[in-house]
Amino acid sequence: MTKISTNEIDIVKSEKSRINDVDFDNLVFGRTFTDHMFYCDYVDGEWQQPKIVPYQPITIEPSARVFHYGQAVFEGMKGYKDDNGDAWLFRPNDNFERINKSAARLAIPEFPKEYFFEGLTTLLNMDKAWIKKGKGNSLYIRPFVFATEPAISASPANNYRFMIICSPAKAYYTAKLRVLFAEKYSRSANGGVGFAKAAGNYAAQFYPTNLANKKGYQQIIWTDANTHEYLEEAGTMNIFFRVNDTLITAPTSDRILDGITRKSVIQVAEDHNLKVEVRPVSVKEIKEAAANGSLKEIFGAGTAAVISPIAAFEHGGDVFELPELDNSYALQIKDHILNIQHNLSEDKHGWRFKV
Ligand code: COI
Repeated sequence: MTKISTNEIDIVKSEKSRINDVDFDNLVFGRTFTDHMFYCDYVDGEWQQPKIVPYQPITIEPSARVFHYGQAVFEGMKGYKDDNGDAWLFRPNDNFERINKSAARLAIPEFPKEYFFEGLTTLLNMDKAWIKKGKGNSLYIRPFVFATEPAISASPANNYRFMIICSPAKAYYTAKLRVLFAEKYSRSANGGVGFAKAAGNYAAQFYPTNLANKKGYQQIIWTDANTHEYLEEAGTMNIFFRVNDTLITAPTSDRILDGITRKSVIQVAEDHNLKVEVRPVSVKEIKEAAANGSLKEIFGAGTAAVISPIAAFEHGGDVFELPELDNSYALQIKDHILNIQHNLSEDKHGWRFKV
């Protein structure tokens, strides 16, 4: 291995790329990782020298607090390549700010901005060949931070590791989804961690989602924990409802992730003079709209999911199938966002970031 030392990051390059072993046409989301990974340890109250090394297993003590108390948060971002071979990120500063907001809620120390951007851009430049051209191709980027201190008293750790790993990606959901509106289980509560990308938020959804899977539904649309009367988010993505020509989505709160794709959808819709309402959305109004034909579309929005149309939903034993549309807002907005991400159209809000 060649060891290169820069002022900012210690770099050890892999001897041989694994890229030729990868079938880029048949990627399963999140299973294949690029040649390198970034990491930086927090010890003695300070973030230490950041490092980039070949992607490899890590050594961690079984007593590390992350295993016992779930002190871990993450981000999801994507890299894209344009027709000239230049690589781009989409609104990366929002991911940086959000991981630190999530970290603060989990009593994890904030990660420095210069390390985040230097680490990200150096890593992406080293593994740029893994970003394939063309809409539908991307590199999913997973920054995450977790408590490494070997100590099992229930208190915040003194030691942490921040890492970035990257995985070439195509679609997260390959077909339209059938979803269940939550009636019993909850994802988040007021004063809780629902707004954060806390690892435990995802683990807590697995059991109820397994039950939904057994009934033929791929995802749950979570409702508010107090009444189960208001629709909040789908856990892997925020959620939009189109009633007649109006797009409606729930406001962000303690309980709902401030999704970067979500706010981009709202902005793009407004740029196209579509009516957007950000307000509580009740189960009752959506069932009524489905019954009277005014509910045209439901779709999810997220980094991994991009824009994922919903085919049907169930609540209280009532099943509603959504119509196939010629003028789907979901598909138009998705195309618009992908064009910005792939440097195929004007970026009037300054969302693209050249790697
Ligand atoms: C993302 O969209 O980046 C997420 O974190 C969702 C995850 C379930 C893949």
